[in-house]
Amino acid sequence: MAGRPVALITGGSRGVGASIARALAPEYDLLLGGRESTALQQICTELGARPWPVELTDERAVAEAAAGVERLDVLVHSAGVARLGTVAELPVSAWREMFEVNVTAVAGLTRRLLPALRAARGHVVMINSGSGQRAAAGWGAYAASKFALRALADALRLEEEGEGLRVTTVYPGRIDTDMQRSVREQEDGEYEPGKYLRPESVARAVLAALRAGEEAHLTEITVRPAAGPLT
Ligand SMILES: NC(=O)c1ccc[n+]([C@@H]2O[C@H](COP(=O)([O-])OP(=O)(O)OC[C@H]3O[C@@H](n4cnc5c(N)ncnc54)[C@H](OP(=O)(O)O)[C@@H]3O)[C@@H](O)[C@H]2O)c1
Repeated sequence: MAGRPVALITGGSRGVGASIARALAPEYDLLLGGRESTALQQICTELGARPWPVELTDERAVAEAAAGVERLDVLVHSAGVARLGTVAELPVSAWREMFEVNVTAVAGLTRRLLPALRAARGHVVMINSGSGQRAAAGWGAYAASKFALRALADALRLEEEGEGLRVTTVYPGRIDTDMQRSVREQEDGEYEPGKYLRPESVARAVLAALRAGEEAHLTEITVRPAAGPLT
């Protein structure tokens, strides 16, 4: 296909998604997801990217926005939410929200964009979490959603390998972003950015997956902070 490849990054307005956008900008034409906001406008202006403002839990809005995507080489699912609480405490609404954003919306959007991704023999990257590899007390709902995301990625990889599609799951530990600030507040813990991954390091892992040799498929990448907590 002629022209620069196209990448759509959900959660591109902030945090990890914004860092992935900066890393991909030299090589890709970008569509950046998030809700309508100044942050989304600003990063799009900075990178010369097109905003792709969609509430991911609104199936109709997702369908309409996806219908406007004609070419797609890379789809990065970075949008996510994290609410902590024990099974005893956490309301069902929080379980629903996390599964809607972290799993169901990922499946729904991928399904809508598969024709374009297949045509490009493209690449889907799922930003998972250490919580997708092990669950901790108070993290049940978030971990359950990320375990489910892993299952979704594994099934998609097997289903689409005949179409030449690659599917990579990235499992980062704690990252210095708004989400981590919110998590530390929910844990009543001190915010210690020096102990967390920088979002740029997660972006580098995504680039490594996208740049693997033509015959190579990086299926899973785990990135842990070199200092600090392992989860
Ligand atoms: N931060 C960590 O420590 C950490 C660790 C491991 C894994 N992760 C994973 O990394 C990914 C990125 O996290 P982050 O730290 O970058 O989070 P963040 O800074 O809180 O940013 C979240 C992003 O997701 C978007 N988003 C959330 N709900 C949405 C919805 N309903 N519709 C559309 N967009 C929505 C936000 O858009 P708006 O700007 O519109 O709100 C924002 O762009 C997530 O999947 C997270 O689970 C994070």
